[in-house]
This record gives sequence, structure tokens and C-alpha cells, in this order.
Amino acid sequence: MELSFLYVLITFISFIFVSLQILFCKEKSASTLSLPPGRTGWPILGETLEFLSTGWKGHPEKFLFDRMIKYSTECFKTSILGQPMAVLCGPLGNKFLFSNENKLVTAWWPDSVNKVFPSSLQTNAKEEAKKMRKLLPQFLKPEALQRYIGIMDAVAQSHFTSGWEHKDEICVFPLAKTYTFWVACRLFLSIEDPSLIARFADPFELLASGIISIPVDFPGTPFNKAIKAAKFIRKELMVIIKQRKLDLAMQKATPTQDILSHMLSVVDENGGHLSELDVADKILGLLIGGHDTTSAAITFIVKYLAELPHIYDAVYREQMEIAKSKAPGELLNWEDIQKMKYSWNVACEVLRLAPPLQGAFREAITEFMYAGFTIPKGWKLYWNANSTHRNPQCFPNPEKFDPSRFEGNGPAPYTFVPFGGGPRTCPGKEYARLEILVFMHNVVKRFRWEKLIPHEQMVVNPMPIPEKGLPIHLIPYETKWRKEEYNDRL
Ligand code: HEM
Repeated sequence: MELSFLYVLITFISFIFVSLQILFCKEKSASTLSLPPGRTGWPILGETLEFLSTGWKGHPEKFLFDRMIKYSTECFKTSILGQPMAVLCGPLGNKFLFSNENKLVTAWWPDSVNKVFPSSLQTNAKEEAKKMRKLLPQFLKPEALQRYIGIMDAVAQSHFTSGWEHKDEICVFPLAKTYTFWVACRLFLSIEDPSLIARFADPFELLASGIISIPVDFPGTPFNKAIKAAKFIRKELMVIIKQRKLDLAMQKATPTQDILSHMLSVVDENGGHLSELDVADKILGLLIGGHDTTSAAITFIVKYLAELPHIYDAVYREQMEIAKSKAPGELLNWEDIQKMKYSWNVACEVLRLAPPLQGAFREAITEFMYAGFTIPKGWKLYWNANSTHRNPQCFPNPEKFDPSRFEGNGPAPYTFVPFGGGPRTCPGKEYARLEILVFMHNVVKRFRWEKLIPHEQMVVNPMPIPEKGLPIHLIPYETKWRKEEYNDRL
């Protein structure tokens, strides 16, 4: 009996001793590593819920600023989307990540993105993005973009005729999505049929809100809905792709007519073509990247113009100068866009306060030091636009809407980053600028408007949107405004 008691005691003491040794060694290796300060939260989940829920409540910057105050204004550690992560903050953090692409860091997407785009699994999302970067310049180069302005204007005019005119009240966000999707379908795929475009609307919404989500694939979860939506869209795109291949073979379509023809015609270094599934996924990626971001920006432009009549008036004056210079039926062109300087400053101020993409992820390809902290190889990194956009040291009085911040030399380098920076800067930046300015021209030329919900809550999931989609009351110039007031404005 005594012997067995002694045995248990020795085992227990040994266990405690070994545990303390392990703990001590672990702490020692962690302390010699000097990881960034911060907390990694719950096992597996980490701080994902806090990260996502601050966005759902409309204040994604809170996750960031709470931790910058508590731990470090330069860099803190967390664990989100199943990964240990270092969040780099401020202009220096942005500069570091943007300048070290493929030297110390490389692009990384959460598991949810790779799973929603299954063909990416054959190579991986990183390789796919590289291929995309090679394909896009041909389509998004300045000469090509200049040709799109007239097409964008024609689409905008049809869009306003069918969606806005003769309506007393409208909901902006769904309509903004219709506009940007219509432009994308027209320019990427040469599709003009509104019924086909309408079929995609719901699946795209599910896809966009499930891509950056907790990757739990159970019926009803946002992630599960996103996978199903991607399958549906991919199937529809495959039908379009097969038809286009036939049209190209029969010379009913040309290799330069749009990005779809271009992708189907391009030959890689081994003489091979992209597979149909690859093309479908790339088009899907472009449609997501290219239409949800811009429609979020447009929605917030309408919101701020409703709230700030003096800003509306200045945009109106600039756009009406351009409108007056055009012959009846003449579409907008490159020279007109160059004149929209104030309108673009307003759009930039909107992108500062409501960046459509909050930030992006990277992965450390080697261990390195940043701001005195060790970032281990394989750790994920995150840059976030709000760490500078809403930082009083970068933008004094950051909550104030002030387009003059963009006059002259504009904001300091690496502080204004709605499109990212460095080698991975958004390739669709100029396309988005044109699409936004064409929209602004068409909307202020036709209407003034008032918000129907004065204090509508904002939700970020993952793009910022007004909770109810921004319902507004429209006041068209031609019918409701007193004639002399209208003339005064001209
Ligand atoms: C207001 C509109 C837009 C905003 C705010 C925006 C913002 C961004 C940001 C922040 C990134 C990530 C950069 C990084 O990883 O650091 C990105 C990447 C990307 N964007 Fe945009 N974007 C917009 C419109 C567009 C449009 C219209 C297109 C296509 C026509 C597009 C295509 C892409 C693509 C393909 C990437 C991935 C690039 C890569 O990983 O190398 N975006 N965008």
C-alpha cells in the first residue's frame, strides 16, 4: 500500500516537473522570439468573432484601435480565421508590407476563399492571382480603358432610365450593384441581356458575404451558401464560355472583343490554353472584385452627397459644366473624365471613410523582425486601411468629410490605401475610377435626393453597406424642381 502510494507520488512529482520544464522551455523560446504583443483568444476560433462582429456592428476600426491602444500602435498579434496573425498598423506598416512583396511576404487568402474557388486548389490562390495579373493589363491598359468610357456612359443612361427615372423612392445599394454588374457583364463578357444579369444578383450577394467567413460547411452557414452560390454562377458561366468558344471558332466573336475572348485566346509559355474551369473562376473573381467593391463605393457617395448639400452643389456645378459642353446624345469621353477633379476628390474622401475592402492578408515566407518584434515564418499578416484612414496623425480630424485633403500633393505616402499599394495594388483601380465618375455625372445631372432613414446603421460584411441598402427619396430636376431654381444651378 505504502509502496504504491510512493509510486503515485513520484509519478505525480515527475509529471509536474516535466510539465514545468516544457512550459519553461516554451516560454523561453517565445520570449527569445519576442513575438508582437496581443492575445490569440480562443483555441481555433481565436479572435475571429471579435474581428467579424465589430464589422457587423459597423465599426471595423474598433477591433484595430482597441488593440493599437492596448498593445502597440505599430504591430500586434491576434489569431483570426484559424491563423496566428500579426497586424501591421500605420503608414510604416503599409509601406513595409507593400515593399516586401515576394521578398519577406507573399499574398495569402483565408481557407474560405480557397474552398469557395475549388479550381484554385489545383494550383493555389496565389498562383491564380499571378496568372490573373499577367492577363489583366491587356484589358485594363489606358488605351483600352479610354474606349470603355462611352460604353460605361451608355450603360449608365439605360440603367437610370430603367431603374431610377419616374420613381419616387429607390434603394441605392441594390441598384448600384445592378449598374456595376451590368457594366462588368458588358465589358468582361459582352452580355447585355438584363434578365441574364438579374439571375446572377442573389448568388453574387451570397458569395460576397460568405467568402470571408468562418469556414464551417454546414447547411445554412454563410460559408455553405457561398460555396453553393459559386457553383451556380460557375455553371452559368460555363454555358457562356462554351458558346463563346464556338463563336470564336466560327469567327462570330473576336479575340479582342472582351476579357472572356482574351482569356480563351491567350496561350501560356507551354503553348497551352487556360481550361474552361480556370476561365470561369477568373471571370468569377473579376466579377466579385470588380463589381461589389465599386457598388459599395457608389452607395456611400450617394449617402454622403445626401448628407452634405454643399458638397453635392460643388459636384453638381462641375458635372453640369461638362454636360453643357456636350452635343445632344454625345457620350462622355476621356477629356470629360479629366475635368472631373473635384468629383474624384469627393470619391476619394468616401473611399477613405468607407473603404470597400478593409485590408488584405499576407504570409511570412521567412522569419523577420518588424518594429523590434519577431514575425515567425508561416505567420499571416494583415494590413488594414482604417489604421491610417481614421488615424488623426495621418488625417487630422479624421471623422470630418473634407475632399480638400486630396488637393495638391494629397495625403502623405502610404496613408491613403483603399486600393492597396506596391506590386499588388488593385489592377482595377483606374477602371473603378472611370465607373464611379461616370455614375456621379449621370446621377447628379438627373436628381437631388434625401435619405429615407436619417441614421441608417452601417454594416461591414465584408464590404461596408448601409443596413437597409440606403433607401432614398428622389427629386428629379425636370419634374419637381422649380424651373428658375434649376436654371440658377445651370
Ligand atoms: C472601388 C473599387 C475597388 C477597390 C476599393 C479595390 C480594392 C482592392 C484592394 C484593397 C485589393 C487588395 C490589394 C492587396 O492585396 O494588397 C484589390 C485587389 C484586386 N482587385 Fe480591386 N478594388 C476595386 C475595384 C476593382 C475592379 C473594378 C477590379 C477589376 C476590374 C478589381 C480587381 C482586383 C483584382 C484582380 C485584385 C487581386 C490582385 C492581386 O492579388 O494581385 N478591383 N482591390
